[in-house]
Amino acid sequence: MSIKKKSKIQPESFEFSENNLHEVKKEIKKYPKDRKASAVMPLLHLVQKQNENWIPLAAIKYVAKLLDISYMQVYEVATFYSMFNLTPPGKYFVQVCTTTPCMIRGAKKIVEVCKKYISKNQNELSENKLCSWTEVECLGACVNAPMLQINQDYFEDLDENVAEKMIKRLLDDKLATSGSAKNRKNTAPEKGKTTLIEVKSA
Ligand code: FES
Repeated sequence: MSIKKKSKIQPESFEFSENNLHEVKKEIKKYPKDRKASAVMPLLHLVQKQNENWIPLAAIKYVAKLLDISYMQVYEVATFYSMFNLTPPGKYFVQVCTTTPCMIRGAKKIVEVCKKYISKNQNELSENKLCSWTEVECLGACVNAPMLQINQDYFEDLDENVAEKMIKRLLDDKLATSGSAKNRKNTAPEKGKTTLIEVKSA
């Protein structure tokens, strides 16, 4: 994204709502007085919650001021963790896991689907502004690889064809049902249980 485009989306200022300022006080109180910098992550989460799931640069400056630390100290936290978005993510934010188990099972093909249908580059909005995507590290569902996350939900046991259908529907503002694309129950074997079959509630 060009600097020109970025500056267009950046608001000049940011302030927490009254309710969130109340939350800020509660978060800061959890730490010793000389360690309030430790509240940086919960405060950045609050910014995202208030600001349509992304953190503008003005909010980074604002949080730094609230915590009496430098802009750079907040910026390095905000840019380190993939759960913090520094650009608007769109109504549907697709996070494709590309760590080894998912990669071996075809995650790169799913990334190609995202590039083709959502946007050429990560963290850019689709033409209809509904979706954006990014690559992330392991999301903890490796046993159902490859997988991706859309907003708060996991979509597992994918391949590029399932992902393509799912993303085309997303661009039509329709979210697929979350879970395994092979209808596996959690991480159970595809053809049903092979152990504990005599225990009804297992
Ligand atoms: S490697 Fe993809 S969920 Fe763990």
